[in-house]
Amino acid sequence: VKTETLLQHFGEEEKVLGAVTPPLFQNSLYTFPSCDEFMQTMQALPEQGPYVYARVGNPTARLVEEKIAALEGTETARLFAGGMAAISMGIMTQVAAGAHVVCADTCYGPTRQLLQEYLPKFGVATTFVDARCHEDVFDAVRPETTLIFLESPSSMLFRLQNLELIGRYGKEKKITTMIDSTWATPLFQNPARYGIDIVAHSASKYLGGHSDVIAGVLCGSHEWMARMTRTEVQIYAPSLSPFAAWLLLRGMRTLPVRMKQHQESGNRIAAYLEDHPAVERVFHPGLMSHPQRDLVTHQMHGTSSLFSFQPKVQSTEEVKAIVDRLVYFGIGVSWGGFESLAIPAQVQPLDWMEPRWIIRVHIGLEDTDDLIRDLDQALCP
Ligand SMILES: Cc1ncc(COP(=O)(O)O)c(C=O)c1O
Repeated sequence: VKTETLLQHFGEEEKVLGAVTPPLFQNSLYTFPSCDEFMQTMQALPEQGPYVYARVGNPTARLVEEKIAALEGTETARLFAGGMAAISMGIMTQVAAGAHVVCADTCYGPTRQLLQEYLPKFGVATTFVDARCHEDVFDAVRPETTLIFLESPSSMLFRLQNLELIGRYGKEKKITTMIDSTWATPLFQNPARYGIDIVAHSASKYLGGHSDVIAGVLCGSHEWMARMTRTEVQIYAPSLSPFAAWLLLRGMRTLPVRMKQHQESGNRIAAYLEDHPAVERVFHPGLMSHPQRDLVTHQMHGTSSLFSFQPKVQSTEEVKAIVDRLVYFGIGVSWGGFESLAIPAQVQPLDWMEPRWIIRVHIGLEDTDDLIRDLDQALCP
């Protein structure tokens, strides 16, 4: 079935008491009719139930997991208490003391913090590379490399990595490949198609879509998931609460309609800013002028509405003043909800000689003419 239909019906063929929306299983534990059934279930911890304890599995979460796995084209998926919980757990399944990771240098800040500052405490090293060039990724690989971590399009500058070439390389060299695919959502990019082993999303963004839930998801194989359930999930207890899973299910019903609008509004406003006299450069994969446009059309089916631009003014005060003048754009972290947001940020990827100020904007579901007028008055007071 098509995505739109899948999101409404997949996994919901049986209606509990005829209820049109699935019930919320808020209970923490499950009881069994006999010791034998209890012991067998404890042994197997089956993904689809019977369930034992909400730390390792929950039917409300399972419904969401099945829908996301179906969208991503992976064997299975698991929800986490946030995108960072998903990313951290996914990485932890692939490293041990002495391991080495290769990571795209423009990855999300806390992902970098985990790899650069935290994991070295446990003897895990990471090399950050300008991963737009797949050769740079391959060159950074060492005999002890166990993981290649991608984020495409990446945070802040929305740079892409070649999923097909890197996925194939990972398979050949038996190195796990993992991607933070949050920006694209499962609608606009399916990395597993290219052999990427683990796909992570922060579901706090477009998947939830209403800025009222923090959640994350990992997609991959049954075999890997079963191992993670017995180890990282048991130990770190990063599972999503049932109510948050239920909210996520509700948000995901409208994902395709919302993404259609986000794409259209994001592209229109990015194109407007590209021609604006106060703007030096716009970083948005949806633009025809994006330097990796061929790759965008090759490996993605659409683009979302989080992007950044470099204003001509570069003093901290002037950049902050632009953002402060915005009326409809809230000043705040995160993105992917109904509302427009803007933040100033100073960034310096590996290939820039100096840090530059950019303004990152998320285009929400407001009227684009209103947003354009707002941006114009903020840029040219
Ligand atoms: C690209 C990206 N990945 C991961 C995360 C982390 O997700 P969460 O806030 O759900 O932990 C975020 C934002 O917060 C993000 O922007």
